[in-house]
Amino acid sequence: MLEKDFYVEQIKKLKKEKNAVILAHNYERPEIQDVADLVGDSLGLSQEASKTDASIIVFCGVHFMAETAKIISPNKKVLLPDVDAGCSLADSITIEQLRIWKKENPNAVVVSYVNTTAEIKSESDYCCTSSNAVEVVRAIPTNKDILFLPDRYLGNYAAAVTRREINVWNGSCHVHEKIGDINLNYAKRKYPNAEILVHPECSCSSSCIHKSALFKDCKNTKIFSTSGMVNYVKKSDASEFIIATETGIIHQLKKVAPEKKYRPVSKDSICEYMKLTTLEKLYNSLQKEVFEVVVPETIAKKAIIPIKRMLEIC
Ligand code: 13P
Ligand code: SF4
Repeated sequence: MLEKDFYVEQIKKLKKEKNAVILAHNYERPEIQDVADLVGDSLGLSQEASKTDASIIVFCGVHFMAETAKIISPNKKVLLPDVDAGCSLADSITIEQLRIWKKENPNAVVVSYVNTTAEIKSESDYCCTSSNAVEVVRAIPTNKDILFLPDRYLGNYAAAVTRREINVWNGSCHVHEKIGDINLNYAKRKYPNAEILVHPECSCSSSCIHKSALFKDCKNTKIFSTSGMVNYVKKSDASEFIIATETGIIHQLKKVAPEKKYRPVSKDSICEYMKLTTLEKLYNSLQKEVFEVVVPETIAKKAIIPIKRMLEIC
């Protein structure tokens, strides 16, 4: 038996024995996506974590996602197969920096992207994901100042769509930062008939918003969360798409619409953190019930408030 088949068989067996559910993000390795019970974006995976009746959640994603699942489902055991699965965007603001920012803006409402630590969430009013950032901003009264963190591109996107002035933290993701105008324009010249799907964390998202507003030059461009892209390609009439996000998503796109062509803006757009989870580590995680994600109760009690608001606004 091949090593891969051995792990897949054992993972399925252990999952049943232990009443575990495997949640995987759209950027995970193809073999991890294929063995998962649910593959999705941050919002979809959080929603599933809130309603599952499994005793164990194995989170094939990065640390903040597993932490969010633990806060939502405190009585379940939440496992992360590799403890080093972090996120450069979540690391782009510290709790000390947030406290200073709040002190400088005492009446502002704090909106934190879900890509943040539990500690940051515990000092926030709302959480949001890339699929509901605009709706979350719309839910805040217009007379309130907003501090949006940590992603500057998602913050600017939400500000542009809602036409609100928002104070945006200067953070970014190291993978999406590199998906800029030069790479996107090159891909557009190479695939002139393709529709363009852009994740709002990409640095090229700013110019796409600017151009669509001023020059109507981006009518072929859509800005989506990862699962937004998966849902869109199914219903679009286009047969070719330029994909501006981490390349792991292409596995899901091919699954839902295999007859279409997907052209990544850059084949190097790979999140090393997401790729840390392998079948062997997933097997090890289920078998030994490691690595358990724990959130101190004092933090979890406060962090659940903005997370619940995020889950209510879809
Ligand atoms: P999505 O919620 O769109 O899947 O994004 C998560 C993420 O980490 C993007 O880098
Ligand atoms: Fe974080 Fe960027 Fe990786 Fe998403 S792609 S998990 S934002 S480092």
